Amino acid sequence: MLIRIPKADIKRGMFVEAVECSAAAFGKRRFLLDSKKDYDAILESPAEFVVINTAFGAEVSQQSGKPPVSRAEKRDEAAATLTRSIEALKSELINIVVGGTLDMEKLTKVVEDIAQADDETSAFFFDITRLRQKDEAMFQHSLAVGILMGKLGTALDLNTDTVALLVLSGLLHDVGKLTLSKNILQKQTPLTAVERNLLRSHPQRGHQLLIRHAIIPHEVLDICLHHHEALDGSGYPSGKSGSEIGLLVRIATVCNAFDKLTTARAGKPDQGVADAMSWMFERDHQFDRKLVLRLGALIDD
Ligand SMILES: [Fe+2]
Repeated sequence: MLIRIPKADIKRGMFVEAVECSAAAFGKRRFLLDSKKDYDAILESPAEFVVINTAFGAEVSQQSGKPPVSRAEKRDEAAATLTRSIEALKSELINIVVGGTLDMEKLTKVVEDIAQADDETSAFFFDITRLRQKDEAMFQHSLAVGILMGKLGTALDLNTDTVALLVLSGLLHDVGKLTLSKNILQKQTPLTAVERNLLRSHPQRGHQLLIRHAIIPHEVLDICLHHHEALDGSGYPSGKSGSEIGLLVRIATVCNAFDKLTTARAGKPDQGVADAMSWMFERDHQFDRKLVLRLGALIDD
């Protein structure tokens, strides 16, 4: 059914037939409204009304006093978004490893969903990614780090483009691990020296994979290569230290370590948020203390 609604009533998920203004002001017609960019562009356009088609998209709110979405519904929505995101991430990471074409649009949708989530939804994302399945651990870790990096970037007042870059970097930072055998990644006993060196080569492996795709921004490459560096130079692969490690990489090192500490792994129970924070806070020779504090302030135990 076609319905004409004031532009202020549009929401993501609606199918837009037309925006009542000139094509020069807003030219797109007949599309599913699923990006914040289009949503903002409609609101900024001179149009007063938008025609939507409920046969292809979401219905109109019954009235302006429509009850707000319940917490349970919001959590279900967050879970569904994460399930979609993990599938998209999985297929694209595997594509990168096997040398296929990277579907940047698919990844951008994941980045948008995460970067534009409100605080409550972000909190649900965080809860849900902590309840990860073991065989999905690597993908869920990547998703969790993307979420944390986006949240921290927003809290630091970085601009939206930079926040999106941070989310994308989090999603891709460990892609090099997919080139290593599961025997190493899931080994329950201590690694041999050879295995340890192989594991520690994952940043370079990931960087080599990503650099083949011209569309990947250099900040993302940098974060992939250096997310295991430490402020005192004890990290790898380059042993960079202090000011050689820029803000975006520092954000990655803090979020990556935090997610690992708060997630149970073979032979290691998870730590609570507060314990993880104090562990990192005490290691200011490795981690940027200001960033640890900012991240801690964002997450409730
Ligand atoms: Fe890593």
